[in-house]
This record gives sequence, C-alpha cells and structure tokens, in this order.
Amino acid sequence: MLRFLLFLLLLGGPGALPAPRRRRGAASPTAPYRTRYLRQQIDHFGFDENLTFQQRYLVADQHWKKDNGPILFYTGNEGDITWFCNNTGFMWDVAEELNAMLVFAEHRYYGESLPFGNESFSDSKHLNYLTSEQALADFAVLVEYLKMTVAGARYSPVIAIGGSYGGMLAAWFRMKYPHAVVGALAASAPIWQFGDLVPCGTYFSIVTNDFKKSGTGCSESIRNSWNAINHLSSTDAGLQWLSSTFHLCSPLKNLQDAAMLKNWLSETWINLAMVNYPYKADFLQPLPAWPIQACTEMVMPMCTDGVNDMFEPQKWDFDALSEECYKVWGVRPRPSWILSMYGGKNISSHSNIVFSNGGLDPWSAGGVTQNITDSLVAIVIPDGAHHLDLRSRNPLDPKSVQQARALEICYMKQWIEKARHSH
Ligand SMILES: *[C@@H]1O[C@H](CO)[C@@H](O)[C@H](O)[C@H]1NC(C)=O
Ligand SMILES: *[C@@H]1O[C@H](CO)[C@@H](O)[C@H](O)[C@H]1NC(C)=O
Ligand SMILES: *[C@@H]1O[C@H](CO)[C@@H](O)[C@H](O)[C@H]1NC(C)=O
Ligand SMILES: *[C@@H]1O[C@H](CO)[C@@H](O)[C@H](O)[C@H]1NC(C)=O
Ligand SMILES: *[C@@H]1O[C@H](CO)[C@@H](O)[C@H](O)[C@H]1NC(C)=O
Repeated sequence: MLRFLLFLLLLGGPGALPAPRRRRGAASPTAPYRTRYLRQQIDHFGFDENLTFQQRYLVADQHWKKDNGPILFYTGNEGDITWFCNNTGFMWDVAEELNAMLVFAEHRYYGESLPFGNESFSDSKHLNYLTSEQALADFAVLVEYLKMTVAGARYSPVIAIGGSYGGMLAAWFRMKYPHAVVGALAASAPIWQFGDLVPCGTYFSIVTNDFKKSGTGCSESIRNSWNAINHLSSTDAGLQWLSSTFHLCSPLKNLQDAAMLKNWLSETWINLAMVNYPYKADFLQPLPAWPIQACTEMVMPMCTDGVNDMFEPQKWDFDALSEECYKVWGVRPRPSWILSMYGGKNISSHSNIVFSNGGLDPWSAGGVTQNITDSLVAIVIPDGAHHLDLRSRNPLDPKSVQQARALEICYMKQWIEKARHSH
C-alpha cells in the first residue's frame, strides 16, 4: 500500500515537492505589488497550433533603481503565485539593499494561468503542455518582454530565485537560458532526485532522523505503529478503536480504509519534517499540486526499508507507477528524460547557481549539497527545514540561516556587478 502512498506523494501529496503550504491567515508582502498578464504560446516548441493563454505575473518596483537596476525573478512553482509572493519574504527583505525590482511569474496550469480555462485539467490532451520545458520557455519570453517594454530595464541583470520545484526551475532556467538570467538561487531544489543519481531511501531516512532528534523512542514508536495498526485493523473492534482514537469523520470499515489511515499518518510525519521551522507556522495543503507531472517527466524514485527509516518497507516500483499512470491518465512516464534534458550530475559546464539546502529537509536528499565549481555553489543549513532561507527574516532564525542568506546576497551582488561591466 505504500506504493500508493508514494504515488500520492509524487502526485501532489505532501512529499511531492509540495508548494509550500498554504498558511492560515496568509502572510502578506511587506509592500504592494501590481498584477500583470502576458499572452503566451501554449506550445512553445511546435508550430502546428497557435493557441495562447494569459500568464499572470506580479511586479513590485518600489526599490528598483530605474537605470538598469537588477530584477529578482521568482520562477513560480505549483501553486497560486500570490501565495509565493506573500511567502518569499527573503526577496522583499533584500529588494532595497539590491535596488531590485521583484517579479513573480506564475507557473502555467496554476493559479490564474490556465491554458485552457476550466478545461485545463480535464484530460491528458489538455495537460500535455504542463512540462518544466514549457514553463521555462514562458519565463524566458516574459524576461525578454520585460526588458523590451519596461523603461530602464533594457540591460537589467535578472536573477532567478525559486524554492522546491521552483528552485529546480530557477537552476534549470539559468542552465537553459543563460542569456536571460545572470544567475540563480535554487533553494531546496532536489534536481538529483531522478534516475539512480541518489539512493531512493535517503529521503525517508532524513524524515526519520528528524524524529530521532525530536525525542528518544519517537521514531521507534512510529515504526512500531504500522504493525499495531495492521493488527488492530484485522478485527472490527480494533477498527472501531482506531476510528474513535483518531476522531475520524467516517469510521474505518476494512483493511483498505486502514491503509488510507496509514498513508495519512505517513504524510503527516513527512509534512512535519519538511516544515520544521524554528517558529510557529501553521500550514494547510493546497491540492492538487501535481496533477500529472509525476506521470510524465517528474519521476522521482523513492523507497523505504523499515530499517534505516521508520516507514513500512516498500521498494521503488516503476512498473506499478507506470500502470497507475496509464490507468488514470492514459500516459506512461519517461524516467530518463529529465536526465537527458538537464544533464543529471553532469552540470559542471554551467555557472552562477547557488543551491541551498536545509539539513532537516528530506528534499536535501536529492539536492546539490557539495560545491561543484567556483560558481556552482552548495550551501547547507544544518538546522534548516524546507527552503527556510527564502522566508522572511525572523528573530528566531538560527545563525546558520542568517549566514546562508548573507552568502546568497554576496553571490547575487557579484553576478550583478559582473553584468554591469559586460555591456
Ligand atoms: C498566432 O497568434 C498570435 C497571437 O494570438 C498572432 O499575433 C499571430 O499572428 C498568430 N500567428 C499565426 C501564424 O496564426
Ligand atoms: C497575498 O497577499 C495579498 C495582499 O495582502 C492578499 O490579497 C492575497 O490574498 C494573499 N494571497 C494568498 C494566496 O495568501
Ligand atoms: C467550463 O465552464 C463552462 C462555462 O461555464 C461549462 O459549460 C463547462 O461545462 C465547464 N467545463 C468543465 C470541465 O468544468
Ligand atoms: C555524465 O558523465 C559521465 C562520465 O563523465 C558519464 O558516464 C555519464 O553517462 C554522463 N551522464 C549523462 C546523463 O550524460
Ligand atoms: C562552497 O563554497 C563556499 C565558498 O567557498 C563555501 O562558503 C561553502 O561552505 C561551500 N559549501 C560546501 C557545502 O562546502
């Protein structure tokens, strides 16, 4: 049954590079922004059809130095762009220091940027243009458009910034469109959680380690809970007990229901590990986050063994995923495409990317955690959770995240300075 969980994880469950969670009483940006739209091709890579859609983006230029001051460009991920705008406090915090314009670009198929309106998710035909390549092309067109149309932005150096899947996009944007962006800050970006680049079990062993740290016996109790639930759910009385203990809205009736409960519990543990912030943050989940991507190009192998982690053992089963995808969407995933497209571990010919990672964040398993070259730099924040560095400064921030942000700003200044001398 964990296969099903993993499938859900990849499809938009909590492990699924979730859009940072929606927060009750959502944080507001420190300054107002303007909402804009740009007409984009639905298919950038074919000339067969000429369909277009409106991509939403947000602009805040209060601190921008009009004469080619820099642009910090948020590469939107799977969610409403206003959410990322409100919750990427780091950009708001550094705008003044860098004299930067902030642009938050919405990812196609999310928020208001729906290629086919309410039909966008109706079937795999309409979902066919939901790929990272198309999203990057949208970003490139938008950057060009801004440079051409905004007075004083013609030679503005643009820096891509993103977290989680958005961090992967920021890194890939710099790799694929180095003429559009001078550098990228890729926070908690698991660009190596593909193919056999990293062991499939590391993700879950990091979740487990977080719980080991949080109290003696904590991870053991969770590991033992699966068998206890299995045992209880073999009898009606046990099912009843589970239902009332967990205050479930509808009582568990059989083993399938119990498996759902286990999935839900697993997701909860993973969530807790990811948003292990030094201050109180109350998150809710926006779903569905990844309607089809895990069934096309975003195939991230994951597995558990119940020894190095606290979950029920489950091998990575690509064939099962493929069957599930075929059943639900009529498509089969192509696990090696991302490697062909973005180079896997062979990325040393690229430059000017900072990869930041939280040591507590399970997604650091697939992240770049060691320096590759002088300009492909890894920052590890030992006591950091999922892209903590992109959040607003907070008095409770550990020193490690303050240092990480300082280093990130330092690299951004270097890229900007170098760009100033090159035109
Ligand atoms: C495609 O659409 C764009 C914008 O909708 C339009 O300006 C252009 O002329 C069209 N091109 C063709 C070949 O139809
Ligand atoms: C972001 O903040 C703006 C302004 O405070 C608010 O109108 C909007 O609802 C917020 N968006 C989200 C998704 O929280
Ligand atoms: C989309 O909206 C139109 C008009 O409001 C409606 O007729 C159609 O059934 C909707 N389609 C879906 C898939 O919801
Ligand atoms: C990366 O390079 C190594 C050796 O340099 C090679 O064995 C490997 O196949 C390459 N991987 C990709 C994805 O090109
Ligand atoms: C990478 O290099 C930078 C600059 O020298 C350094 O600050 C950082 O700690 C290095 N990262 C790792 C993971 O060693």
